[in-house]
Amino acid sequence: MLTTLAVPAGVAGLGVAATSYAWAIERKAFRLRRVEVPVLPAGAPALRVLHVSDLHATPGQPWKVRWVRRLAELEPDLVIDTGDNLGGPGGVPVALEALEPLLSRPGAFVPGSNDWFAPRPKNPARYLMPDTGRRIHGDPLPWGELRNGFTDAGWVDLTHRRTTLSVRGVSVEIAGVSDAHLRADHYERVAGPVDSAIDVGLGLSHTPEPRVLDAFAADGFRLVLSGHTHGGQLRVPGVGALVTNCGLDRRRARGLSRWTDEMWLHVSAGLGTSPYAPVRFACPPEATLLTLVPAG
Ligand SMILES: [Fe+2]
Repeated sequence: MLTTLAVPAGVAGLGVAATSYAWAIERKAFRLRRVEVPVLPAGAPALRVLHVSDLHATPGQPWKVRWVRRLAELEPDLVIDTGDNLGGPGGVPVALEALEPLLSRPGAFVPGSNDWFAPRPKNPARYLMPDTGRRIHGDPLPWGELRNGFTDAGWVDLTHRRTTLSVRGVSVEIAGVSDAHLRADHYERVAGPVDSAIDVGLGLSHTPEPRVLDAFAADGFRLVLSGHTHGGQLRVPGVGALVTNCGLDRRRARGLSRWTDEMWLHVSAGLGTSPYAPVRFACPPEATLLTLVPAG
C-alpha cells in the first residue's frame, strides 16, 4: 500500500534554501586550514607540508582553479596530493592548470578511484547505507596523462612505492599505496620499518582504511595523509559527519587525529565534489597547511 507523507511548506522551503546554499555558496567557499603536527626529532626545523586532495576537476570550474593556484603563495616545503584529482572526462587540463604553480615545489601523490574511473549517477540515499562492497565504475579516465603531467614536473608517484627526500635538511621517508576503496591497496609491496636514521616517515593513502593505517603504524610511520571522505561532505551541525564512505570512524572524517600513540592521521575534507552531488553543507572545501614540528 502506498502512503503519502505531507511535508509542511515551511520544512520544504528550508530544504530548498539549504540545498541552494550548499550548491551556490558553500561548495565555492574554500578555506585553508592550518595544523601543527609534532612528529619531528628535537632540533629539526619546522616543515610546511601542503595537503591537497579530492579536486574532482571538470571543465567550467574557474573559481576552483583560481583558489588552488593561489596556494603556491604559501611556498610550502612539500606538497602532498592524495588523489581524486579528476571529476570526469576533460578534467586533466583543468587539474594541471589548477596545480601548475604547485608543481614547481617538491611533491608526491597517490591516486584515488576517481582518477581512474568517471563517477556514475547514483541514488544519494545509497551513500548513507552500509557499504555492500559493490563498486560500479564509469568510463576509464586518462589517469596516465595526469600522472605524466605530475611526474614530468618532478612530483613523485608513490603508488606502491617508497622514496626518501631531504627537505630543509630533514630526511623524510614517504610511502604510498593504491586506492583501498577499490581494494587496490597492496601494503605488502611497500612494507618494512622506517629506518632509524630517517627523521620522519609519512604514509599516503587516498582512502583512510583502518587496515592501511594499522600497517603504516606498525612500520613506524608517524603521520598518514588521506582524503576520500570529503569530511562527510554534508555535515549536521553539532553532530558532524554522518558517513566516511570507508571503515574509518565518523569522528575522524576530517582533520587531524591520533591513530596510535605514535602515529597521527590527517584526513583532508578535499577541494571538490562528485559532479552528481555538487553540494557541500557545514563542510567547506579545503586545503591544509600542516606544519611538522619537533615532538614534545
Ligand atoms: Fe573524492
